Amino acid sequence: MRTSVAIIGAGPSGLLLSQLLHLQGIGNVVLERRSQDYVLGRIRAGVLETGMADLLRRAGAGKRMDAEGEIHEGIEIAFGGSCHRIHFADLLDGKTVMVYGQTELTRDLYEARAAMDGIVIHGAEDVAPHDIKTDTPYLTYTKDGRNHRVVCDFIIACDGFHGVGRSAIPPDILKTFERVYPFGWLGLLSDTPPVADELIYSYHERGFALCSLRSRTRSRYYIQVGQDESLEAWSDDRFWDELKRRLPQDIASGLVTGPSIEKSIAPLRSFVAEPMRHGRLFLAGDAGHIVPPTGAKGLNLAASDIQYLSEGLIAHYKSGDESGLNQYSDRALARIWKAERFSWWMTMLLHQFPQNGAFGQRIQNAELEYLFSSRAALTSVAENYVGLPY
Ligand code: APR
Ligand code: PHB
Repeated sequence: MRTSVAIIGAGPSGLLLSQLLHLQGIGNVVLERRSQDYVLGRIRAGVLETGMADLLRRAGAGKRMDAEGEIHEGIEIAFGGSCHRIHFADLLDGKTVMVYGQTELTRDLYEARAAMDGIVIHGAEDVAPHDIKTDTPYLTYTKDGRNHRVVCDFIIACDGFHGVGRSAIPPDILKTFERVYPFGWLGLLSDTPPVADELIYSYHERGFALCSLRSRTRSRYYIQVGQDESLEAWSDDRFWDELKRRLPQDIASGLVTGPSIEKSIAPLRSFVAEPMRHGRLFLAGDAGHIVPPTGAKGLNLAASDIQYLSEGLIAHYKSGDESGLNQYSDRALARIWKAERFSWWMTMLLHQFPQNGAFGQRIQNAELEYLFSSRAALTSVAENYVGLPY
């Protein structure tokens, strides 16, 4: 098979790029190792910056988001037994975020791809990039026991943190930066009404907690747990009891509990790979970077990568202008590192770090008290949370 752009991975990054290129008449193929059902079975965060929401609309996949998503004007930070609001719209002349589940967003992208007869090949195993330093790179893969080749102009690795694209960059060229946090997030999804209108991030001596939502009838909750915690040790009842202990009394008393429809433990890490280009191979989304979910930046960083990369590819094909592709890595990394900083800062602020002792807790308390004593500090948090400019 021959195409202009070969994309590895049918997550949000790969599907969004595929759709944006196709809308400009640029042929592309997406190779995904899992099934569509598997991809759509992933439960992930759903706080969208304006840039991501606009990109979805431009991709022709924003209709259901606009109909079913929720516009949120702020978030709550709970500490000292009460909630404290960061009111984005007040601090930033009306700026907001869109709350819309990533699973639904991915479903919308799949439907948009299908409506254009986009080529998304599932069950593509052993995908491997070749000749990425030449003008005729290609991918090989196997499917149903047969070997296949996709000859292309560019290979875009949208294959996530555990993909193959990043490892195609020679070790003497690739630099990685990583911080692994000494805890995980135990998440629970339930068909119960959210405990509050907006998200609540809770700083508590027993550990961090987060109250989020997918709709007015489906809620998503998280609690900080030990790095080696086992899911089997957490019954639904134990989860609900612990969550209530980490919330202000007036919030906990209003919590509607119910059976989990999904429950999982995710590790937290910060990770960046540099550069995000090598020859005709580009990294985008989780393939190039990971943020702790505290700042809700994972999906939104994938969006800015895809914005920059699609601009560069379209300019290449429409006018032979190579500047966008040549500047992609530096341009993407400049925004990635600012989001890494913010996600790291929120994680350090809101989680328990026993190794930092009583001094560390006093610093966190001082940071929180300063934050809510200063409009400048609140404005800084607000502009990072709603998303820095592209
Ligand atoms: N061959 C083919 N497909 C692969 C391979 C491979 N070797 N390795 C991984 N994949 C697929 C995965 O099955 C997955 O569907 O690539 C896709 C990568 O998707 P994501 O991990 O969702 O990454 P991305 O599209 O960049 O989306 C970033 O996802 O993890 C969250 O927080 C993150 O919200 C952010 C978003
Ligand atoms: C979620 O809804 O899953 C969610 C929201 C905000 C975060 C992380 C996760 O910071």
